[in-house]
Amino acid sequence: MIKVENVSFSYTKAPFISNISFQVEPGEIFGFLGPSGAGKSTLQKILIGMLTSYNGSVKVNGLEVKNHDNSFYETIGVDFEFPSLYEKLTARQNLNFFSSLYSGEKRNIEELLSKVGLLSDAEKRVSDFSKGMKSRLNFIKSIVHNPSILFLDEPTSGLDPTNSSLLKDMILAEKASGKTIILTTHNMEDAAKLCDRVVFIVDGSMKAMDTPHNLIMRKGAGLLKYSYQKDGIEYVSECPLNATHKDETLLSLIHSNQLLTIHSQEQTLGDVFMEITGRKLS
Ligand SMILES: Nc1ncnc2c1ncn2[C@@H]1O[C@H](COP(=O)(O)OP(=O)(O)OP(=O)(O)O)[C@@H](O)[C@H]1O
Ligand SMILES: [Mg+2]
Repeated sequence: MIKVENVSFSYTKAPFISNISFQVEPGEIFGFLGPSGAGKSTLQKILIGMLTSYNGSVKVNGLEVKNHDNSFYETIGVDFEFPSLYEKLTARQNLNFFSSLYSGEKRNIEELLSKVGLLSDAEKRVSDFSKGMKSRLNFIKSIVHNPSILFLDEPTSGLDPTNSSLLKDMILAEKASGKTIILTTHNMEDAAKLCDRVVFIVDGSMKAMDTPHNLIMRKGAGLLKYSYQKDGIEYVSECPLNATHKDETLLSLIHSNQLLTIHSQEQTLGDVFMEITGRKLS
């Protein structure tokens, strides 16, 4: 569905995006992860044919995107990082306008507004929308023409937990209906939940690409932490989850029922992010 081979690109004379290669299969949710300024949105702009002065090859649906014609935009939907809506128009006018630009079969606007909880705000001007409302409208704008490939750049940013969860369910519903999705997110829990595979981009280069599960497993076993009391003093100890059978203290505490607390600490995609990028999650 998407085939990227040895792509490099720079805004200036200094090299930036370099040697990017990956393939996205039909029906997959493929995640772009990485620190701020790493080049994720730039890469998305290359994939949607906005930046055409790249070297290498980017094929979407078998077509080199720098040679695309307008029919290309019938097949892709783009949820830009920053809402791209007409502020003076109402939500419904925005959707009607963007929908009118496409020739294929359109989605039902009423239904889309209702799904993201904006039906009662449909006649409100976008300039009077909150950040989260704009974000939700921007998302449905990107799917109004029922495209088969979606590019979603931080679609849940600025959303409260309820709306974020609603949008994630909608993304999964798009996948279930056969769409192929590129998803950029800073939220590692979302990435682990939604993405079939992810690629980490750091300083314009690919650092790792795999399923979230495999990346987490590569970090090795998690930890088991426990506490207990001895001679009136409280002790805290830990052992790797895959070696609990060798921890004599732990085994004896279990046998004598003397554990005060016990909890496991599995590796997460957030730990993988910190290891790969060398940066803390904000
Ligand atoms: N139009 C532009 N002209 C020049 N430099 C740009 C342009 N757009 C982006 N850049 C630079 O390219 C780098 C990567 O930006 P990009 O928006 O791709 O990062 P990102 O990974 O999407 O970051 P974030 O997670 O903050 O959205 C940044 O250093 C940015 O300043
Ligand atoms: Mg970005």
